[in-house]
Amino acid sequence: MLGLILVGLASAYSIWSFACLEANVRKARALGLPVARLPVDANNVFWILFQPHFYSLLDRLPIRWLSYRWALGSPVSINIHVADPDAIQDIVTRRGDFQHPTAELKILELYGPCISTVKWPDWPRLRKPMATPFNETIMASVWAESRRQTFGMWASWTKFADAGIPSYQRDTRTLSLNVLAAVGFGKPYDFRVSTEPSVDEIGEYRDSLQTVLDNIILLLIVPFRVLQIVPGTWAKIVNAAAADPDAKGVKRGLSVDEIFGNLFVINFAGHDTTANTLAFVTLLLAAHPDVQAWVAAETEAVAEGKPVEEWDYKQMFPKHNRCRAVFYETLRLFLPVPALPSTTSDHPQQVTVGDRTYTVPVGVNFTANLRAMQTHPQYWSNEI
Ligand code: HEM
Repeated sequence: MLGLILVGLASAYSIWSFACLEANVRKARALGLPVARLPVDANNVFWILFQPHFYSLLDRLPIRWLSYRWALGSPVSINIHVADPDAIQDIVTRRGDFQHPTAELKILELYGPCISTVKWPDWPRLRKPMATPFNETIMASVWAESRRQTFGMWASWTKFADAGIPSYQRDTRTLSLNVLAAVGFGKPYDFRVSTEPSVDEIGEYRDSLQTVLDNIILLLIVPFRVLQIVPGTWAKIVNAAAADPDAKGVKRGLSVDEIFGNLFVINFAGHDTTANTLAFVTLLLAAHPDVQAWVAAETEAVAEGKPVEEWDYKQMFPKHNRCRAVFYETLRLFLPVPALPSTTSDHPQQVTVGDRTYTVPVGVNFTANLRAMQTHPQYWSNEI
């Protein structure tokens, strides 16, 4: 009997999903876009994990499925993917028309609402105090701390010259975290290579932050109250993320107030992006010694023979054109933020993609596909 009920429920769910899928596909077709069907929600965790493999499978097929505009119809939503630079520029500029998909971004509210998750009317209010500290004065501190950290990393790496560097990727993570901790929160740390223990027993600020960011996917996906009852290693992660005062009233790790807003979203947005970019730049320069020599020649010329300790941000940074070019090209091909999601809110929106203008109904999702835009053969004749 129970088996029959389960089969009945599963069948009803499948029929309902199929009907929703077909309704969304019809709506997307009515817009005049090529449509791909996806039988599950585009935000389904398993689909998110599996989709890179799926797309690379599609790439291997002898058909041209890539287009700079297409829609993905799923039982839950319609998602229009755009790789046209003018359309993307238009979408990201019209923030009120194409808003953050707050429901989907809810998982980022680990410590409470933040700039990436608030609805449009609240966005400017949160944005103003966030943007104020990102000025030239703080950039001089970023420069000085980055120089100090890079010195530490360099000193460690030269020790490993023969054996090979154990993990350059972990080391660039440490470097980026240390710069964030020192400049953003006045907590300077010396560089620590990846072979040393990644966290201290005492659970300092930087270590708690490192633990939270290293386990961010787990913290975002598994509800906090579930993690709290799991013993063992996960307890450490939960403590680093919650860390209210203990029984003696001593604060360990990060309090919710400290983390909320400024800390979490700035570190979340700034940590992996910077660390991965530095890791890719390092590898690419190692693979292209001619480019490495070209960039080094510029730094030597700009430094005018001064020792590294005296290298000055205002004098040197603007003259690093070759260095900037290498970072731009690395960010074009190995971009840490591959897509920007948004959704049409309030009323239907007009958007022009290529030679066509579409009127998109409320509730349709957009994916500004930056990776596609930055590698699309229509715009880039020689990709690498
Ligand atoms: C290679 C480095 C980085 C890249 C490629 C990058 C890229 C991006 C992109 C594409 C966005 C989305 C913008 C939008 O929605 O229009 C973003 C947002 C953001 N980034 Fe970065 N970022 C980098 C480094 C950083 C750093 C170092 C910080 C902080 C210290 C930071 C803080 C933020 C914040 C707070 C937001 C949300 C802003 C908002 O919603 O208005 N990012 N970043």
